[in-house]
Amino acid sequence: MKQFGRPVTMRPSAKGYYARVQGVNHLLDAFIKKTECNCQVINLGAGLDSTFWRLKDENLMPRKFFEVDFPTVVARKIHNIKTKPPLSKPIIETHSTDSLLLDGQSLDSDRYCIIGADLRDVANLDEKLKKFQLNPELPTLLLSECVLVYMTPLQSSNLVHWAAETFHTAMFINYEQVNMSDRFGQVMIENLQRRQCTLSGAEACQSLDSQRERFLRTGWEHANALDMMTVYSMLPQDDVARIERLEFLDERELLQQLLQHYSICWATKDKLNLGLSQLAF
Ligand SMILES: C[S@@+](CC[C@H](N)C(=O)[O-])C[C@H]1O[C@@H](n2cnc3c(N)ncnc32)[C@H](O)[C@@H]1O
Repeated sequence: MKQFGRPVTMRPSAKGYYARVQGVNHLLDAFIKKTECNCQVINLGAGLDSTFWRLKDENLMPRKFFEVDFPTVVARKIHNIKTKPPLSKPIIETHSTDSLLLDGQSLDSDRYCIIGADLRDVANLDEKLKKFQLNPELPTLLLSECVLVYMTPLQSSNLVHWAAETFHTAMFINYEQVNMSDRFGQVMIENLQRRQCTLSGAEACQSLDSQRERFLRTGWEHANALDMMTVYSMLPQDDVARIERLEFLDERELLQQLLQHYSICWATKDKLNLGLSQLAF
């Protein structure tokens, strides 16, 4: 997702980035519209993501937007928010009192909350979210982008299971690697390992089926997954043509290989019968 401090330049992977942002936003916005903003969003491993500010600009604010990441990352983001009025203003504007709950590891307002927690410790995560008025009765969108892949399959399954147990009407959108067992995937894993970055969850990223199964085994009613090449081909073709003109140097084959190794998987459960299983591309 678009992040603070990351210039949106047309790098070689810009088309992949474009497909990811458009793909995730498409599902996220469809969920918020379906619930008429009567919902909450939890961005798991949000990093410096700026979706809350986009939703505010586009009049698509959920009742409350939660973000979770490690305490050190959260501390950095809170510092950014505190020192940059364009970031703090929308939070203050949507808050009913003069005082915000704010410490180094969390910030809580009526509509936006950021919490420092380890997603592998589900009991602690649950406790912290509830302390900040998470409402299990509200339709809930959970989002993870390039996060589950850093956890073991057991740890990510526990997290996904917690979400299915906690919310009766929910959608989980997960964007991350797929097809990790082929040669391209193996080279990707080795390159990251050389940079001290281990993909502990690569086993759950073997295929679109393994991505779906993680959800279907843990209490979700429906799960779909598409590789990003497929998502890219489904995006509005006017925009695709514009991006392709900007990135004329890209090699089509390399782009295809890259996009075939990332996926969006989305799972739903729908006690309120909102029609969440129909949300798609
Ligand atoms: C590759 S970044 C992606 C950030 C953001 N989701 C985005 O798409 O821009 C992965 C993020 O997940 C967070 N993360 C990974 N494992 C985590 C864990 N066990 N608990 C909390 N956060 C975690 C990292 O700190 C980092 O901010």
